Amino acid sequence: MHSWNSGRNWWKDEVVYQIWPASFKDSNGDGWGDIGGVIDSLDYIKDLGTNIVWLSPIFDSPQEDMGYDISNYEDIYRPFGTVSDVETLIEACHKRDIRIILDLVVNHTSDQHQWFKESRSSRDNPKRDWYIWRQARYNENGNRMPPNNWRSNFSGSAWQWDEPTQEYYLHLFAKSQPDLNWENPAMRQAVYDSAMKFWLDKGVDGFRIDTITIYSKDPSFPDAPVLDNSSPWQLASCHYRNKPRNFDHISEMNEKVLSKYDIMTVGEYGPTYDTSLALKYCSASEKRIDMGFQFETVYIGFGKIDKFQYEPFTLGEFKRRHAKWQTFIEGNDGWTSAFLENHDLPRSVSRFGSDKPEFWAVSAKMLAMMLVTTTGTLFIYQGQEIGMTNIPKEWTIEEYQDVEAKNYYAAVKDATRGHESALKRAMDGVRHVGRDHARTPMQWSDAANAGFSTGKPWMRVNDNYRDINVRNQLADKKSVLSFWKALIRLRRQYIDIFAHGSFSYLDEGESVMTYVKKFNSQRVLVALNFTSDEHIFSLRKEWSSANLLACNIDHPEDQKLSPWEGRIYSIQI
Ligand code: GLC
Ligand code: CA
Repeated sequence: MHSWNSGRNWWKDEVVYQIWPASFKDSNGDGWGDIGGVIDSLDYIKDLGTNIVWLSPIFDSPQEDMGYDISNYEDIYRPFGTVSDVETLIEACHKRDIRIILDLVVNHTSDQHQWFKESRSSRDNPKRDWYIWRQARYNENGNRMPPNNWRSNFSGSAWQWDEPTQEYYLHLFAKSQPDLNWENPAMRQAVYDSAMKFWLDKGVDGFRIDTITIYSKDPSFPDAPVLDNSSPWQLASCHYRNKPRNFDHISEMNEKVLSKYDIMTVGEYGPTYDTSLALKYCSASEKRIDMGFQFETVYIGFGKIDKFQYEPFTLGEFKRRHAKWQTFIEGNDGWTSAFLENHDLPRSVSRFGSDKPEFWAVSAKMLAMMLVTTTGTLFIYQGQEIGMTNIPKEWTIEEYQDVEAKNYYAAVKDATRGHESALKRAMDGVRHVGRDHARTPMQWSDAANAGFSTGKPWMRVNDNYRDINVRNQLADKKSVLSFWKALIRLRRQYIDIFAHGSFSYLDEGESVMTYVKKFNSQRVLVALNFTSDEHIFSLRKEWSSANLLACNIDHPEDQKLSPWEGRIYSIQI
């Protein structure tokens, strides 16, 4: 058990730094980031002001979904390192008062996991029931069909036929990611022991819990309503997201494992847009998890049925979603997180700011101002602190590595027999909302391969690394990175009001976001310009005593906000 002073739950006031291990830092020149690279970068992480590290999956895996397909929870993917390297990392973190959390991926395993190999070996294997096996259906022509019309999140049917045992297994993600059967108590116990206690007993400080809302499926596996006439496979989340039994599973996980350790847990809610459901996970008295990632804000513009069919969005809509999830824990015992990026999302400066050279830095800083004044535990994704951008538009599908994007493109090609305009539209979707944007190697310097690796990186480095990199920004007091550091210090100083204050808008416009946060007698006013134009802005008379705490331009002027300008004031009342 740690000796840290707890007080208010330690994880509420912290800033978490998310690492995507494959692309963070390569310490041995094989082109893959690794645990050694993380250890070498801990001082950088500490210097930024972040005290918790979240590592995306590092476990043994065939890497079909970049480690979210785990073949052994108790071993490390060799190119990343060994269990003993991770023990060294845990120690190195704790020595610096950095806590470390791992990714818990237990909706599914890889098809290379020993459990699945046994499960698929015969219908009467003791582990058969650890996964979800169902018999075929036959259509009117006598053709074999999957048990229902559910679509995989990675395109195509969610069922895969297994020739030797003549049944289908369920996979809500890739074919190589069979879903575990959470109705089986022996399976659940094995997850607790192998995926959780194994690492908690080594001293890890918690988990980011992958796809936490979908463990329980409707046991009758009904067909999903047809929303997409062009496909036999339909979005079926109404039959597997936030089912009543799912809450029982998370309660049991808490009771049997989580509650026994002083740790933090953050669940991935995905498209759970009902705040009362989210509260059932994160309210303290419910005893499930500490907080979750809501996706209503960051999924803005994603197609509702098919994420790649993205739509334009307005700032007004963004503001409405942001406020909904800022205020949903006000007056209750829930907690939440603040984030705009992770490994599944495009880069925030390209989406919500501007990556045009003249506005890139100022808009990245403006977004940082929004985040540090946001309620909840703050999460920063690697590269966000230097304003890394999306992949250049010229890159073709061959440069993209993500199974989701590749399957989608292949499915469109297949369905349209390679129709040119359909493929153009598909590529456009991938360029807007694809996950690869977040996965290009970390830009450490202007050296070869952005200083990420001395070998050939597993994924192409973004072409702008000579302009956007850590080394330049460390040397520049006015860089995005230096600004982030100052803002994180400010957040610590004003933690009560920034992370715990109540939130309300002062304007309902489509260009500027102004809001007040309150905590006891403290008030903070934030004004953010989300456009490349100037906007009128004036302080109300009663705020004559306003004190400017932070601004992202050198000479803020009375009565107006410059393009992408942001200001944070403390005000007396
Ligand atoms: C989560 C992860 C994502 C992964 C999926 C399947 O959404 O964040 O990267 O592909 O789960 O595990
Ligand atoms: Ca390496």
